[in-house]
Amino acid sequence: MCGIIGYAGPRNAQEVILDGLKRLEYRGYDSAGVAIVGRSLEIYKEKGEISKLASSMPSLDGHLGVGHTRWATCGQPSKMNAHPFLDCKGRIAVVHNGIIENHQALRKQLVEEGHVFTSETDTEVLVHLLEKHYKGDLHAALRETLREVKGTYATVALHVDSHQLVAARKENPLVVGLGHGENLFASDVTAILNYTNKALYIMDGETVVLDPQNVTIYDHEGRIVEREPHVVTWTVEDAQKGGYEHYMLKEIFEQPTAIHNSLLGSLEELENGSLMVDQDVPSVKLVACGTSYHASMVGKYIIEALAKIPTTVELASEYRYSPGTGENPLTVMLTQSGETADTLAAAREARRRGCRTLAVTNVVGSTIAREVDSVFYTNAGPEIGVAATKTYTAQLMAMYLLGIRLAQIRHAMGRDEVRELTSDLRGMPRYVGSVLDRSQQVNEAVDMLVPAQDVFFLGRNINYPTMLEGALKLKEISYIHAEGYAAGELKHGPLALLTKSTPVVAACVKDHTYEKMISNISEVAARNSPILAIGVEGDTDLAAVSDAIVYIPPISPILSPVPLTVMVQLISYYTAKKRGCPIDKPRNLAKSVTVD
Ligand code: M6R
Repeated sequence: MCGIIGYAGPRNAQEVILDGLKRLEYRGYDSAGVAIVGRSLEIYKEKGEISKLASSMPSLDGHLGVGHTRWATCGQPSKMNAHPFLDCKGRIAVVHNGIIENHQALRKQLVEEGHVFTSETDTEVLVHLLEKHYKGDLHAALRETLREVKGTYATVALHVDSHQLVAARKENPLVVGLGHGENLFASDVTAILNYTNKALYIMDGETVVLDPQNVTIYDHEGRIVEREPHVVTWTVEDAQKGGYEHYMLKEIFEQPTAIHNSLLGSLEELENGSLMVDQDVPSVKLVACGTSYHASMVGKYIIEALAKIPTTVELASEYRYSPGTGENPLTVMLTQSGETADTLAAAREARRRGCRTLAVTNVVGSTIAREVDSVFYTNAGPEIGVAATKTYTAQLMAMYLLGIRLAQIRHAMGRDEVRELTSDLRGMPRYVGSVLDRSQQVNEAVDMLVPAQDVFFLGRNINYPTMLEGALKLKEISYIHAEGYAAGELKHGPLALLTKSTPVVAACVKDHTYEKMISNISEVAARNSPILAIGVEGDTDLAAVSDAIVYIPPISPILSPVPLTVMVQLISYYTAKKRGCPIDKPRNLAKSVTVD
């Protein structure tokens, strides 16, 4: 995915756009560019981060412009392939997020017609099509262009002769920020919060004309659409680093608040029976990608343990192509961004199969909300670090709430059991706070991981997915190859890889798998692998078989994935920091993946 920003108003457009791009940089950061209309149309691009672009540009005087930060999909990351793109006469500029699927055929045709291309990207066909169709009205040209294009887009264009920006959306996010005498386009609200908290979410098939005073939205047939603005509750501070070295660390430390907020209101809805689902279901399917998939795996344990409902988990990228069984489980899509292409496609497929669909997402106004029957918002606040942290633990809270709700409906839990568990959930911010208080010990304990090339993460039962998540976090931000394993599986192959230079991180809580876990850890110790254990405070037996140990506070085993996850996040963070990695912007990754 990429980040898009557009500005029309009295401020210096270059400053607004560079500021917006910095806030959108988590969406992609292999190259960036801006186009500003001043006395002429000026365009600057750079390979690399926004700071490089900002320092290489002169000060420009203009009040209309667009900017883009790229995550390459079609064409190498390079200055040449950075957006915006200009038409042959240098009068129209375009930025785009998405994929133009028929770009090769369009390019061939446009070249035959005499257009000169300067990049390898799919996007560039858009600007040449706009040039071809432009007869004094850029919006009309955009509508003509879209008729020829197959694929997905959020795109914003400008013409040097006009004071307007025009835009279109299909399956990629686009939001309008409504200011006083100024208006903006952006890929998400974090880029507009400095100027306004009023947002209009643009829907698929819509086009928009925006100038400093007016914003007009058109549907796919060209009729004007009336829409009330949404008031955004996130603040500018929510989306800033607030003194932390990295967004990831800030977001790890925000988890007590994020968890509190994700429960806010939900426990009341649980009590009055209006939370998420209103009827019994024969089975549940959880569908997601990446970290959200791990939350789904934990969710399976929770739902089966609490509600006794058979639950399956599928990767969204597999589910959408699977044959289906003819059954209609409640199908729950977990996606923090609400924009992951595979998860959106899975939601459409689930509805096509006739399943009731529920989405668990963190982003109000995201596309997933329009693809499902009902939505649960996790309310964790904006997450900028590419590695998901607070949105994951908020998803876990959603899984506990869903498990309890389903159990309530089919009377699988007694009132006292529900009361006890919800009271523990209310206390979760304290449990997490107590893990965060030990961050210095974690920082010291990770020394054994820092030089490693391979690390194993072992867990069992509900904490097997916790350790898959630990391995994903570590590889994502530290570039160490890491594997999460169900500890009982070790002897079926991976044990062959263990040596004294292969550290193992093992989670061991006091549940019915405790003894087995201790013997698995002893097997590892016998191969001389250094062991970093995560155990429950006071566990001296575990300490005796480990080289280093960090503790979570005593907690009911079913709730242990939350503090354990915070622990593996800290382990990954401090390891990556000691290795000098760019933690918030890991190579080749972007915050949400809007291509499939
Ligand atoms: O926005 P989503 O939850 O749908 O994103 C899914 C994955 O792309 C995401 O969790 C990814 O694995 C994270 N970078 C992990 O930290």
